[in-house]
Amino acid sequence: MEVLISGTKLALLQGDITVQDTEAIVNAANSGLLGGGGVDGAIHRAGGPAIAEECRRIREEQGGCPTGKAVITTGGRLKARYVIHAVGPVWSGGQRGEDELLASAYRSSLELAREKGIRSLSFPSISTGAYRFPLERAAGIATRTVVEYLKEHPGAFAEVRFVLFSPEVLEAYRSALKNFVR
Ligand code: APR
Repeated sequence: MEVLISGTKLALLQGDITVQDTEAIVNAANSGLLGGGGVDGAIHRAGGPAIAEECRRIREEQGGCPTGKAVITTGGRLKARYVIHAVGPVWSGGQRGEDELLASAYRSSLELAREKGIRSLSFPSISTGAYRFPLERAAGIATRTVVEYLKEHPGAFAEVRFVLFSPEVLEAYRSALKNFVR
């Protein structure tokens, strides 16, 4: 699925984020920037040790990355030149600001990319794996936040992609996005 939002192509596709040719890819990281499983593990494996090395430096300088925020490193050996490490919330029932923190993780990533002059980026489905955020709810927040940001910053990006790992996740994002575009 592909839509045009204020001059930016917004694409939803099923696939592996580590092979995307956008200028940056977003990682679903943790606050310690310590790497892990899921998409985080896949990105570090594919991109090589330069990514962890920069993460370590950021950890030393600013003590990691708070939930809802994002930091940027090299893409190492990836096709993408940069990795934006966004930290989504761990789901714990919905009463601890999880919705706002998830929206903030997407917004912070877009803000960082725009500041760097990055023209294209790919997002995974942040928080819906190990962090157990309910999929449909996360898909609604992710698509709404990105669509709003693109409308607020027309022409800032050429392309934003959601790269979803399974047909089930793709379907959740597709039906969520349909609510925001005609
Ligand atoms: N490409 C795209 N999506 C992927 C890939 C990949 N190569 N690998 C996994 N995914 C998907 C998962 O299927 C899920 O839909 O990414 C989504 C997010 O799942 P997680 O990677 O578990 O991320 P999250 O729920 O945000 O948990 C973050 O997990 O790995 C640790 O260090 C990470 O502690 C952090 C936590």
